[in-house]
Amino acid sequence: MEKIAIGSDHGGFELKEKLINRYKNQGVNFIDLGTHSSDSCDYPDIADKMSESVLKGEADLGILICGTGIGISIAANRHKGIRAAILYDDFTAEMARLHNNANIMVFGGRTMPFEDVARRIDIFLKTRYEGGRHQRRLDKLDEDK
Ligand code: RB5
Repeated sequence: MEKIAIGSDHGGFELKEKLINRYKNQGVNFIDLGTHSSDSCDYPDIADKMSESVLKGEADLGILICGTGIGISIAANRHKGIRAAILYDDFTAEMARLHNNANIMVFGGRTMPFEDVARRIDIFLKTRYEGGRHQRRLDKLDEDK
């Protein structure tokens, strides 16, 4: 099983806690990068912490959550080598891995029901990157602009 880190701002805190409990019940322990309460905090700080953890190899994959998923995905994608994808439906959850080799799954704590998010994580985890023609495109993402 891959090492998975999870992080959220206050807008994603409740969903983060539910996901940690759900996977703990299945014997999977996420690396919890915070936040640790529903007090207001800044999503770029969590996105930076997560991106560093994935880029250093402390985690193989990440899950990031803010209110909508938008701010925290923008912040994570500023890091070269990070491919953070908002998994807004089941098909996207599969494609984000198959074609984009996303290394961070992103969700909206105020926009997505828990059961939908858990199902999309399961779909993502059982899918494998297809490689081939997609690698050329991923390489272009990390070129200096
Ligand atoms: C915080 O109130 C909210 O702006 C944040 O969680 C996120 O939705 C930003 O994109």
